[in-house]
Amino acid sequence: MIYARITGTGGYLPEKILTNADLERMVETDDAWIRERTGIQQRHIVGENESTVDLAEIAARRAMEVAGVEGKDLDLIIVATTTPDLVFPSTACLLQHRLGANGCAAFDVQAVCTGFVYALGVAEKFIRAGGTKRALVIGAETLSRIVDWTDRTTCVLFGDGAGAVVLEASEEAGILSVHLHADGAHSDLLSVPCGVSKNRALCEQGGVFIQMKGNEVFKVAVNTLGRIVDETLEAAGLEKADIDWLVPHQANTRIIAATAKKLGLPMERVVLTVAKHGNTSAASVPLALDVAVRDGRIQRGDRLLLEAFGGGFTWGSALIRY
Ligand code: ACO
Repeated sequence: MIYARITGTGGYLPEKILTNADLERMVETDDAWIRERTGIQQRHIVGENESTVDLAEIAARRAMEVAGVEGKDLDLIIVATTTPDLVFPSTACLLQHRLGANGCAAFDVQAVCTGFVYALGVAEKFIRAGGTKRALVIGAETLSRIVDWTDRTTCVLFGDGAGAVVLEASEEAGILSVHLHADGAHSDLLSVPCGVSKNRALCEQGGVFIQMKGNEVFKVAVNTLGRIVDETLEAAGLEKADIDWLVPHQANTRIIAATAKKLGLPMERVVLTVAKHGNTSAASVPLALDVAVRDGRIQRGDRLLLEAFGGGFTWGSALIRY
């Protein structure tokens, strides 16, 4: 049996930090509200001359260094992003050239905050099918570029960053299962309502901004993530007690706490980065994974449950023997 095993993780957050106090000077909000409703204290914001591929490259190099892999060794690069550098070439192609991995398959995946879990699922299937030995999977976002900095209901939530993993074919267990879902019926609750092929005038006049009915999204997220916990455990024939770490998408501590409760996991077994990173969309899960691997909390052999929910709606989970 061939598994896809994580052999390296990496992360990168841009230098500039925007605190809740900074936001108090920009919109009518306050630190206490943001902390209480979201758990967020600060977020990182890209520099003017930085873009998604710059963040992706640093995270990728860090993961490759741990895995002992060079660009020429890669068979596949997948970048999950909602904020690509260009319409095309894909961010994965731009990154591939920088890494000297020219020739391997490279493409982007767009599933908003669930993007990394989707990309992991795709890469895992390439490896299990044979032929692909080493894949680089990245979640990278410059969400600050699609945030309306005058809208207090969204601008306090998001941040920029990138997280990466190297996956390698292995006889040792790695990714045990991936569960992916979407329901396109709810675009009115969470979207950037203009793009290349539709509503271009809206973009040109008003800018390309995230719009969200936060409290409605909140309810769907809590219910949906509760269901996917059951689905993942049932598919693997596992009990709640078999999970060592929950590595969730970092949108809101209250959503994360509800999922942990569903799993019967104390918050000490949940990797929480939302306070310092904010919601970095597709980057949030691999960034959280990298933090907990590097600080020694996650050890080889631990069972991890990764989960995410985001625009689309999309949602998914990955069960991993680390
Ligand atoms: N500061 C102060 N007050 C605020 C702010 C702010 N930044 N934002 C909103 N408020 C006010 C509202 O105007 C409202 O006031 P009112 O009662 O006078 O009308 C009040 O606070 C409550 O607003 P709610 O939206 O009901 O607040 P809620 O407790 O739901 O928290 C939040 C909002 C944090 C957005 C929450 O709903 C949430 O986390 N939603 C889910 C987000 C998510 O997971 N999205 C999916 C991933 S993102 C993606 O895919 C791109």
